[in-house]
Amino acid sequence: MQYRKLGNSDLKVSAITFGAWAAGGWMWGSTDRNDAIEAIRTSYDLGVTSVDTAPVYGQGTSEEIVGEAIKGLPRDTVQILTKFGMRWDLEKGKLAMHSQDNSGRKIDIYKYAGSDSVIYECEQSLKRLGTDYIDLYQIHWPDVTTPIDETFEAVAKLIEQGKVRYAGVCNYNAQQMAEAGQSVSLVSNQIPFSMVNRSVEDETVPYCIKTGKSVLAYSPMERGLLTGKIKSGHHFKEGDHRADLPHFQPEFVEKTNELLAKIKPIASEHNASLSQLVLRWTIERPGITVALAGARNARQAKQNAEALNFDLSADELNIINEFVDYF
Ligand SMILES: NC(=O)c1ccc[n+]([C@@H]2O[C@H](COP(=O)([O-])OP(=O)(O)OC[C@H]3O[C@@H](n4cnc5c(N)ncnc54)[C@H](OP(=O)(O)O)[C@@H]3O)[C@@H](O)[C@H]2O)c1
Repeated sequence: MQYRKLGNSDLKVSAITFGAWAAGGWMWGSTDRNDAIEAIRTSYDLGVTSVDTAPVYGQGTSEEIVGEAIKGLPRDTVQILTKFGMRWDLEKGKLAMHSQDNSGRKIDIYKYAGSDSVIYECEQSLKRLGTDYIDLYQIHWPDVTTPIDETFEAVAKLIEQGKVRYAGVCNYNAQQMAEAGQSVSLVSNQIPFSMVNRSVEDETVPYCIKTGKSVLAYSPMERGLLTGKIKSGHHFKEGDHRADLPHFQPEFVEKTNELLAKIKPIASEHNASLSQLVLRWTIERPGITVALAGARNARQAKQNAEALNFDLSADELNIINEFVDYF
């Protein structure tokens, strides 16, 4: 495993960080708690010491699972990355979506990051995670109803109190990052990035490079699509959000599989799977600090954790980049 510092902080995280969204079940058609815990423990044993979660993932379930998985581990050997600003239990801010929780109950999710909420959410997360501090605390989505300084002054207070070590953002553009940076020293931005989804390379990644902020790439396997296992017409379980995403419609799936067929010989050369090649490529990309890799079970987690067990030469990276640019 490689370990990389976030921004100009002394917080080191594993270049492959475990993404615990699917572990919470919500929007992924359910979860198996034991499988999820085993996946996180297997990752840790293979050097994946950092875990990214959020309160809204399973409405507390993902954070509880993470808490259970890391119970008993020396706290300073694990880095907990969690978030705030997506409320399902309070109608405040801007409605983000109508949804259903894991038991099928209708819920509405609001983007809200008022100072009262930031402080309250942190306490709830600490309880669910079974810890007394969060290593990286990130706003989940921009909240257009709250001034950015109000949100990040609350985060600065949490840092002062020792409940949070460092502040980050997700899904922020360069301008929003600059504004947040007036209230707190930001270390990172968590944004969508994969071989087939590179729009953040236009503005946000260059801004992060210029200002020394880290980029945490989310959905680097494009939610499973880049593992090569999804074929056109794939049937997803009820409640799995992927069924409706443009990236999982037949034409896009076929086009992606053509790309994967082109890069597969490089994976085979290293006895690696496509998902391993994809993750390896992701963290080699300029400006990308971490690949947040989701996994449902220990088998997937092991494969993802071992994505750094081989090296890619400059020639191999150039070949992959050419195919990716052509996509
Ligand atoms: N801040 C944000 O707004 C935001 C948004 C999205 C994600 N994220 C973070 O980024 C993390 C990763 O993104 P993601 O979970 O959306 O997508 P991802 O990591 O690209 O894909 C994860 C999914 O792919 C499948 N998979 C993973 N490894 C595999 C393997 N080796 N072989 C076969 N299938 C495999 C699993 O689903 P199946 O087995 O069901 O196919 C898994 O749940 C999230 O968990 C979350 O922490 C953040």
